[in-house]
Amino acid sequence: MNEVIDRRGFRIFPGYFDSESQIALVEDLREVLRQAPLVQPVTPRGQKMSVRMSAAGRFGWISDRKGYRYEERHPSRVPWPPIPDRVLALWGDVAGCPRDPECCLINWYGEGARMGLHQDRDEADFTCPVVSVSLGDEGLFRMGNVERGGKTESIWLRSGDVVVMGGAARLAHHGVDRIRFGSSSLLPNGGRINLTLRVVT
Ligand code: SIN
Ligand code: FE2
Repeated sequence: MNEVIDRRGFRIFPGYFDSESQIALVEDLREVLRQAPLVQPVTPRGQKMSVRMSAAGRFGWISDRKGYRYEERHPSRVPWPPIPDRVLALWGDVAGCPRDPECCLINWYGEGARMGLHQDRDEADFTCPVVSVSLGDEGLFRMGNVERGGKTESIWLRSGDVVVMGGAARLAHHGVDRIRFGSSSLLPNGGRINLTLRVVT
């Protein structure tokens, strides 16, 4: 497997999933989203986020007027569906972590959606990495530093690419500046799906 390591420790696996596996993954996710539909979260200050979210696993990450947190249930009160085996197999292959992921967050980016530079730091334990999967339209992924500010670099993530943020990169800032809507034919209506796997407790 081809692997690129950024100077901060971001590990990128271009084309980790071939097109057949991408189609199978999307099928797995359709089943998850049937049980736990995407919702458009609001920030604690009441601003709508541009991505839609759902999750699989013991926990889902939620943002609403009460704040950011992990919850064991979808806002509809149903428990999150299990993380698909195909996704667990990816974790086993690249995470190098003895624990299983407890959250598979599903972010859906429609036309114009983005995600501002942030750190993933709502977890109790930072020894395991965050593993991210890109599906569908290309997304411009910005990689920053652990400290706020400083130089950043951006790369286009394509459908099937995997990024591992561990070690020195576990708390590095990152975000998605924009997507190239309609650049992939994986999702019939366009858009980008990003999965992020994390150990939470
Ligand atoms: C995230 O950091 O939550 C999403 C990253 C991405 O969409 O690639
Ligand atoms: Fe993140």
